[in-house]
Amino acid sequence: MLENQFSDQNYRLFSQFLEKASGIVLGDNKQYLVKSRLAAHVKSQGTESLDQLIEKIVIKQDRKAQLVAIEAMTTNETLWFRDTYPFSLLENEILPKYQRNSSPLKIWSAACSSGQEAYSIAMTIANFQKKNAGSLRAGAQILGTDISEEMLQKCRLAEYDHLALSRGLSESLKQEYFEPTEQNRYQVKAHLKAMASFRQFNLLDSYSSLGRFDIIFCRNVLIYFSPQVKKQILQKIAACLQEDGILFVGASESISDLIEHFSMVRCSPGLYYVKKSK
Ligand SMILES: C[S@@+](CC[C@H](N)C(=O)[O-])C[C@H]1O[C@@H](n2cnc3c(N)ncnc32)[C@H](O)[C@@H]1O
Repeated sequence: MLENQFSDQNYRLFSQFLEKASGIVLGDNKQYLVKSRLAAHVKSQGTESLDQLIEKIVIKQDRKAQLVAIEAMTTNETLWFRDTYPFSLLENEILPKYQRNSSPLKIWSAACSSGQEAYSIAMTIANFQKKNAGSLRAGAQILGTDISEEMLQKCRLAEYDHLALSRGLSESLKQEYFEPTEQNRYQVKAHLKAMASFRQFNLLDSYSSLGRFDIIFCRNVLIYFSPQVKKQILQKIAACLQEDGILFVGASESISDLIEHFSMVRCSPGLYYVKKSK
């Protein structure tokens, strides 16, 4: 069908647009991905074919079509307590170092998707406080950011269906930190929700408005970027971490080319990075 075709030239133009706007590198031969993610938007954007839609995005620079395309091209796969070890290290090794903090512990979930990472951090903190009475008296502030406004709406709503909840969340944590809604879904309880706030943020932008963090989770997003963009992002992350601040990246992500800013702490299992002092 012609409406689902686009030229090689338009594929190149679209790839360039996407990388410049979001950092996401498509590489060669990902026409099938563009087709599967954008096809549903051809009609709703008032166009007749993928070729026309891509031209609207890259040549006419229609902002609405551009935002729709960026949303469509992001991969939002996530789950509760993903990889397990970051959350057990947080609870058992990292939070004890901060437990007498007189100011709120500041944590950033830097590509938070639909919120599972930010709320898993909140549950970990709540569990830690329960086991260690009087700890973290000033509380914790978790900032979740993502490029996708659609994902951020899910984060703020904090309601999940059975399928989403079944991915990594134990029954006991579900009972403790969620309450059922009338729509047969579960909502994060208010005291946990109050720990987190969410805002739209593109990791390619300036980080100066974000403030400084004690701990940053930047997981399963660097894989989509070129080595050069990844390096720039890690430099900016280092700059907005406190001295000795902690960074978690995804289990399959390596930042060895940026090791000048961080020392790796190997644990069993897992690892995290500590910002080097100047
Ligand atoms: C695979 S999810 C990872 C979610 C979570 N961190 C985890 O590990 O489960 C990747 C997220 O990165 C977001 N993303 C992609 N490019 C981005 C950018 N330039 N700035 C901010 N977020 C971005 C996507 O919207 C998506 O929600």
